[in-house]
Amino acid sequence: MSLFSSTHNLPRWSPRLLPVEGEERSLLVQAAERQRECPVEQLEAIDLPHIQEKIQSALWKGSGAVRILGLGGLDEDVMRRAYALLASCIGTPIDSYGRQYDVVDRGKDYRKEAIPVSQTAAETAFHTDSSSRWMNPSVVGLLCIRPALEGGLSMVSPAWKAEEQLRRKRPELLRLLQEDYVRDVVTPGVEKERIWLNRFPIFSRGPQGLVFRYMRYWIEKGHQRIGEELSLDQIEAMDLLDQELAQNSVHFAMGPGEIVFLDNHRVAHNRSAFVDNPTAPRLLVRMWMSGAPSSS
Ligand SMILES: [Fe+2]
Repeated sequence: MSLFSSTHNLPRWSPRLLPVEGEERSLLVQAAERQRECPVEQLEAIDLPHIQEKIQSALWKGSGAVRILGLGGLDEDVMRRAYALLASCIGTPIDSYGRQYDVVDRGKDYRKEAIPVSQTAAETAFHTDSSSRWMNPSVVGLLCIRPALEGGLSMVSPAWKAEEQLRRKRPELLRLLQEDYVRDVVTPGVEKERIWLNRFPIFSRGPQGLVFRYMRYWIEKGHQRIGEELSLDQIEAMDLLDQELAQNSVHFAMGPGEIVFLDNHRVAHNRSAFVDNPTAPRLLVRMWMSGAPSSS
């Protein structure tokens, strides 16, 4: 086969794999162990210049997704603090849900009450975090403390690829996704009455480039609540977007101690439905950070 015959052999998009190792790992683990009793909001930060540079470069200049390995085998208190120390290298934590928010099945159904899908065992569908116009974290972090008994796979997908494909295949549908959509309000601190104002595009451009904000379920709920039906074209646009996100996605199983950081403006995430071991349920710990690429 000719070397020039096709572009199908181009490397597939994937998150950057980043082991924490050597002296930086020792420094990080020692600092986390020393402060294991300290509230995560009050940890004394440490300098980790190499890993910091690698995480920031992967997030802002690379794939927008990084998987951090090498912290398995630590106990939960130490893992949580090592995670918080690494996160503080990236940006300023956002505490709307608490500094570290436990993603665990609370036995509820997001279709029956207005709760985040993160509190259920359902598949979340591809989305970016936060349905509030007034809150858009730059980075979403997830630490795995315990995986599920079955399922609960992590999935990530680059939104710019979906955008490119939509532009090529159906530019008129992409234009629809650049218009404002109402989102139902579930983020704490945002009053329900503000739903009328809680509208913004799925694809837009900010000072740092693409800003992708998508959570289909809360868009559908939001439009239902204000009695503004989505058009058939808008539904078709979201169907195609979901297809493209799924097609470009990478799936992986997070093991204990693994951390994922995602550029929440450029990379969508999802997780498959899961079944818990009742005595050791799946536990992921989410952090949100603000932090502009220009500050890196
Ligand atoms: Fe999420």
